[in-house]
Amino acid sequence: MDEKITPDLERVLEAGNSAPSGENCQPWHFVVHGSTIEVHLLPERDQSPYGWGQRASYLANGAVIENIVIAASAEQYRAEVHYFPNPSDEWHVATIVLTKDSTIESDPLASYITKRISNRKPYKKDQLTGEERKTLANAAAHGGYGMFALAEAPEEVGRLGRVGSTNEEVMLANRSLHDFFFSHVSWTKEEDDEKKAGFYIKTLELPPPAKLMFKIFRNWPIMRVLGTIGFNRIVAKQNAATNASASAIGAFMIARTEPLDFVKIGRAVERLWLTATSLGLSLQPLTGVLFFKLRFDGGERDGFSSHEQKLVIDAYQEASRIFHADGKHIAFTFRIGRGDAPSAHAIRFPLAEAVTIQS
Ligand SMILES: Cc1cc2nc3c(=O)[nH]c(=O)nc-3n(C[C@H](O)[C@H](O)[C@H](O)COP(=O)(O)O)c2cc1C
Repeated sequence: MDEKITPDLERVLEAGNSAPSGENCQPWHFVVHGSTIEVHLLPERDQSPYGWGQRASYLANGAVIENIVIAASAEQYRAEVHYFPNPSDEWHVATIVLTKDSTIESDPLASYITKRISNRKPYKKDQLTGEERKTLANAAAHGGYGMFALAEAPEEVGRLGRVGSTNEEVMLANRSLHDFFFSHVSWTKEEDDEKKAGFYIKTLELPPPAKLMFKIFRNWPIMRVLGTIGFNRIVAKQNAATNASASAIGAFMIARTEPLDFVKIGRAVERLWLTATSLGLSLQPLTGVLFFKLRFDGGERDGFSSHEQKLVIDAYQEASRIFHADGKHIAFTFRIGRGDAPSAHAIRFPLAEAVTIQS
């Protein structure tokens, strides 16, 4: 990037660059010519076992697009989104044409883009108000894409909390998942500042005993032995309780699982997340089981024992029943509620690295 970019466009790109992504891998790149922004997916950034067919990254790119469109309105740009404009380039997710228009009203969500965060703290287990419920449902339906459901009955939240924690049960028992996860943890601020991606340990919000145990868990031979005496299940149980401290657990469902479906649902997810932020509500995605299930549906089960496959499929089916998915694919689930402010936030690669300017 060089100085040729205007400050308003830079703010719009900054908004795109602050989108959420699995393991904070930031799988996007922007090519800017004039006031047109091309959004490209960077598959090499997402080598995650959760990322079958780059679907998690397509979802993240959808969040990028939503942020760009919202931030553009604050700069009085009309934004026209053209999805997959180049049929021979599956990574060219969208071209967004921005046109100055003084009649455009700023989207009130614009000021929440930099405040949105994954909050992994326990929440207060209280109920959503009717107004909050309605505002969230409207936000999820804004783009008219996919199906949205919120489970609020404590018994269902409890069951879905256990579904979410199946991820940790499987991950801590499976060497390659374990190694992948721990290789993406930064143990100090310095390490995080250097890597600028992955999980900074403080954002995981581990209570002090767990923080200590975590250092031990990263050593696979030790974790393997601990797994034989059920330690992964103990951790999963604790996480299930944290998950169940939410006011609700929500889901986005889609009829098909093509890249465009994930891009569009990513836009809806981001809109919902920003709306939650504007209501003072905290949110944490809980998606591990969903992306494993997608991988299995795609015919890739290598690396998962039959026991692990069964855990994932049973958990996914439990979520399907609670959300009445009726054959639709659950693309994204999250817990939502009132929580104390997170201890730390995830940083990003500098915008200059994420942008190429074409004259
Ligand atoms: C597709 C997708 C899946 C995610 N899955 C999880 C998850 O299962 N658990 C979790 O704690 N965070 C999950 N996240 C949140 C990311 O880890 C988070 O967005 C990233 O680390 C950046 O942090 P931020 O959201 O606070 O900006 C997910 C995000 C995306 C976009």
